[in-house]
Amino acid sequence: MKRILIFITAVGVAIVLCATIPHTQEPAPRIHAVDDGLALTPPMGWYPWNIFGQDPQNEKLIKEIVDALVSSGLKDAGYSYVGPDEGICFLRGNDGRITTNLERYPSGLLGLGNYIHQKGLKYALYTDAGTHTCSGAMPGTKGHEFEDMRQFAEWRADYIKIDWCNTEGQDIVKTYTTLRDAQRAAGHPIVHSLCSWGDGEPWKWAAQVGHLWRTTTDICAPGKADWDLAMNIAAINEKLFPWAGPGHWNDPDMLITGMPGLSEVQNRAFFSLWCMMAAPLMAGNDLRDMSTSTIRILTNPEAIAVDQDPLGVQGHIIRMDGKVSIWAGKPLFDGSQAVLIFNQGTSWEAVAIQPSEIGISQKTAFYVRDLWRHTTAGPSISSNSVISVRVEPNDARFFRISRSNDFPLPPIIVANTYRVSLRAGGSSPQELNGMITLTNKGSSELSLWKVRQDIPDWLSVSVAKNGRSQTVANTVSTAGLKKGLYHAVVRLDNTDPISAKPMSAVYYDVDLEVTDDVGGTLR
Ligand code: GLA
Repeated sequence: MKRILIFITAVGVAIVLCATIPHTQEPAPRIHAVDDGLALTPPMGWYPWNIFGQDPQNEKLIKEIVDALVSSGLKDAGYSYVGPDEGICFLRGNDGRITTNLERYPSGLLGLGNYIHQKGLKYALYTDAGTHTCSGAMPGTKGHEFEDMRQFAEWRADYIKIDWCNTEGQDIVKTYTTLRDAQRAAGHPIVHSLCSWGDGEPWKWAAQVGHLWRTTTDICAPGKADWDLAMNIAAINEKLFPWAGPGHWNDPDMLITGMPGLSEVQNRAFFSLWCMMAAPLMAGNDLRDMSTSTIRILTNPEAIAVDQDPLGVQGHIIRMDGKVSIWAGKPLFDGSQAVLIFNQGTSWEAVAIQPSEIGISQKTAFYVRDLWRHTTAGPSISSNSVISVRVEPNDARFFRISRSNDFPLPPIIVANTYRVSLRAGGSSPQELNGMITLTNKGSSELSLWKVRQDIPDWLSVSVAKNGRSQTVANTVSTAGLKKGLYHAVVRLDNTDPISAKPMSAVYYDVDLEVTDDVGGTLR
């Protein structure tokens, strides 16, 4: 549908434009069918493929990246899922089971997961739905779906990317549904990332099956960013906006921010586009070697706040003005909204937006927050103002527009650790304690995390506030326990303080080793 828009720009020129009103598509299911509380905002983390490809991946590299993720400030900005992609990390033995490739990962894949969890990060692994992974170097899950998902659960994976190579003759919906059933049967909470590059139009059915799905081909060949390809991918992914929402996301592939081949302006524009599309933010650059500008872009809390907004709406293009696209349609949890103006031309452009175009009613006072310059303009009155901006080639201006001069950041939860590991020696009953601290890097107060009461008798968990953080005390009582290894997954739930929407659940592991049979009775 087309309509005519007439407005006056900052320089007083009358413009008549034909605007394309987006074609309405079949609405997506509102809620992820698996009510597991996972990925209610787009997953953030790091995956190796974009910069490294397969060969250099090994335990040393992944651990160095994990350390850099923490020391660079990315962890505090919300990045949490990390682990190997297709990097020959496991092999299939003669008994049909997958086991760690110990040459590359000497601590084993459980050991790597423990390392990641101890740092307060979440563990991501990779596999394929067919006979083999894409390079053919690793086994796929075909015919082994249940055993493999059990093994990933034993390795304590929190996230699994499942590729679609070597799947000739397989029905895509049935295959990924079986994999989902296998994940549920394995019992460990896991984010399911489908990677069929748009094959089988997963946006139409995969909300029932997983938490995110790739919508396009790979964003680059390993090692170098490809700007034109990334822009094609953005154009495809943008059109799929009706299908995304909390727990089910369109995934236009991992980030290329900070990779060789992009200017600072392109890095910033790219990151703005991915945040506007509520895309998963899986960094794809070498975190051990980042410029200050790359770190600043990847950790900009005001841009991340748009991506991680609890309403989970994907923004889209509302108008094209030559080579300039105007993106809106992304309401945020506090009643504000995000607006992005992106210039794909070769010279700078002056752009004007009528407040009414983005739904601001007449005679309303509004403030405009520049998410890269961190400045606020306003109040302006909608009936006599246009929003006028200048945009350089390749650049994106990224704004948040609100009736109030307050731009709260949604909750971003950072844990000191996701693993409590305790050991009890001797046959007398003991009480042991392990603490987890959850810090909200957003700007509003959270209520107390609620503990799900599905924990074993030997464990009790209580939560207390400690300034901006909350401490989660885990108390283990060994009375009456037999010698052995014990394990529990603790789940905590909360809601966003402003929108009251559920927040992604927090999970962590408690491991207990009891060295002797213990007397006494259980609490
Ligand atoms: C596919 C995926 C990539 C990467 C490679 C590994 O191409 O789309 O993201 O996982 O496989 O071979």
